[in-house]
Amino acid sequence: MSTPPPGLELRPLPLPASADADDAGDFVEMVRVRNLVSTEISGHDDFHLTPHELLPAYAPGPHEHRMLWTVVLDGDIVGRIGVDIPLEEGSRVAYWLVELRRAVWGRGIGSAAYELVEHTARAHRRTVLQSWAQHPASDESRLPSPTGYGSVPRDHAARFYLRHGHSLEQVERVGALDLTDPGLPDHLDRLLQRATLAAEGYRVVQWELPTPPEFVDGYAWMKSRMVTDAPAAGLEFDEEAWDADRLRRHERFYLDARRRMLVTAAQHVDSGDIVAFNELVIGGDGTQATHQEDTLVLSEHRGHRLGMLVKCAALIAWRSVAPHSPRVVTINAEENRPMLDINEAIGFAPIAYEGGWKKVLSPGE
Ligand SMILES: CC(C)(COP(=O)(O)OP(=O)(O)OC[C@H]1O[C@@H](n2cnc3c(N)ncnc32)[C@H](O)[C@@H]1OP(=O)(O)O)[C@@H](O)C(=O)NCCC(=O)NCCS
Repeated sequence: MSTPPPGLELRPLPLPASADADDAGDFVEMVRVRNLVSTEISGHDDFHLTPHELLPAYAPGPHEHRMLWTVVLDGDIVGRIGVDIPLEEGSRVAYWLVELRRAVWGRGIGSAAYELVEHTARAHRRTVLQSWAQHPASDESRLPSPTGYGSVPRDHAARFYLRHGHSLEQVERVGALDLTDPGLPDHLDRLLQRATLAAEGYRVVQWELPTPPEFVDGYAWMKSRMVTDAPAAGLEFDEEAWDADRLRRHERFYLDARRRMLVTAAQHVDSGDIVAFNELVIGGDGTQATHQEDTLVLSEHRGHRLGMLVKCAALIAWRSVAPHSPRVVTINAEENRPMLDINEAIGFAPIAYEGGWKKVLSPGE
């Protein structure tokens, strides 16, 4: 393997108590570099976060141990490394990322960073390394997804994963919906009407975080189903037990970040159970992209257009929550046809593709 350049340091990044604290300088600079890397790859700033928004995601908690390093070259922060260790009982998994400014690619820095990732995973006795990257459109030859749906170019990031023993497991589509389209409100109203007819026996309930007490248990149950019910291809996800305490901790990530989340759920009228949900999120001053996060219909309630129902009801209500957001972005597995059908009918169009990559370490390696 190549020798990294002299002047390279991989520095553990201690988390400041707040993004305004006197010692928050490195964290703030790390976030600035993170955002620049994101724009260099995607050409837009839809995935930018402020230091205030990102810091709560690293708050210590009982469900995950998250570690960060800055990549420093000749005294300047040029990237970051992240390793997340889920603390579910029996977990074998570590999630990782290495993100570098484009100007320093191809000099062995990523490989040095990756060595730290593997070392850290082993130190936590994790053998399944998983990571995601965006692969912008390019002329390079394509690597097909083993699911049979989608492919990514063999670009710099793909070659990096392959060189370090990872295999492509899943391709995900980043989709965007133009909220400034003048035809969208009528279109959504029509789709909602049709879904409402098919969803007899269910009603829509909506709330902004924090979740009202009467919905906490139902929402926590659905959050626990996300990892088991969403298509995972060859990636490995731990089963997650969610209770009210975990849900409240999860909500703090948004509330402490001063980001708004609208949850739109379908309630089964007879039982009172919450059986489907959708999440829309926005931060900052409300002029940025909206993120459509989790959407799920519990398996025993599929076939009633509840996915369409909650998505349309959410987007309609969103007009008054975030009237100045220009678009919604969302990420779906390329093989998740039922979900893509709904998104495409609403008007989401693909803007990019991501690869989900995995390496299984052999114990003695
Ligand atoms: C993917 C990424 C981390 C790779 O980092 P990098 O520093 O460019 O990686 P390296 O330099 O160690 O290796 C890349 C290539 O440069 C070559 N290289 C390494 N040292 C070199 C040197 N000193 N001189 C010239 N080439 C060198 C490597 O052999 C490798 O060649 P290959 O493409 O034929 O396999 C970086 O491009 C990046 O941050 N991308 C954006 C975020 C991302 O996609 N991350 C993916 C992981 S989460």
